[in-house]
Amino acid sequence: MTWYLLGAGNIGTLVASYLARAGQPVRRVGRGPAPLQRNLLWPDGRHQALTLAGDDGGLIQRLVITTKAQDTADALRPLLPRLANGALLLRLQNGLGSLDALPLPEGLQQVEGLTTSGAWRDGAQVQVVAENDTLLGLAQGDPEPPADIAALLPHWPGARWCTDIRRQQWLKLSVNAVINPITALNDCPNGALCDDPARQQQARALADEADALFHRLDPDWPGDTYGRALAVARATAANMSSMRADVRAGQRTEIAYINGWLLRQADQLGMSLPAHRLMVAALPA
Ligand code: PAF
Repeated sequence: MTWYLLGAGNIGTLVASYLARAGQPVRRVGRGPAPLQRNLLWPDGRHQALTLAGDDGGLIQRLVITTKAQDTADALRPLLPRLANGALLLRLQNGLGSLDALPLPEGLQQVEGLTTSGAWRDGAQVQVVAENDTLLGLAQGDPEPPADIAALLPHWPGARWCTDIRRQQWLKLSVNAVINPITALNDCPNGALCDDPARQQQARALADEADALFHRLDPDWPGDTYGRALAVARATAANMSSMRADVRAGQRTEIAYINGWLLRQADQLGMSLPAHRLMVAALPA
């Protein structure tokens, strides 16, 4: 069964290379029939030449979504008539809710992924920087992966099936909702959150509001978003957050799918999250 790939960026190319290794054919979707050549290089010198076939306009029964959250609805909308009922979706992107506004067909199996693997691209060369843990799971917490995902996992270094993906996504989102907007607005590296009292105060306000919301959504929420955000900021001190990179490049940011997602949940519960609302208003969506 052919997989279609929406978003042949760095992570998309990496996933396509694992699909190719697993013997599952993959082609790009929505970018015309021309194939795309990529050469992946690993830090230990291994390399893999990858030819991504172009779009054939066929029925989509397997779809990897690795576009940025803010680009997803526009990219996927024209493809909806080709999406089969019961299709398998694998979504790997920062943020939540990127598919919420779309009239998706019935019975989709939506596998959600979280990864901290990294790669960068120079022309056709994709340099894999790190293959870290990748969690894949269904929001319902199914104990077993769908067959095509089970067949893919052994070919995907660091990947494992996860039965509490929603909790893991919320944990990541809460950290992103603190680090990303502060670093984007202040044009600073992640580590700058740890040593500046004004930024710490901002971080505390965002973290406390996120915890209040997640406690309402899940009484077992572990809290301490502030502590976790600071630990991630410290561990990635020199890094540029994805949101800061988008602002610097003059692009739309993921704000609507990170802090904006929190606001949408809060609105439904009649809660106000003023610190997050400020961030949503301040950053380009
Ligand atoms: O979005 C990002 O950039 C990353 O998730 C994180 C954790 C903020 C580190 O840069």
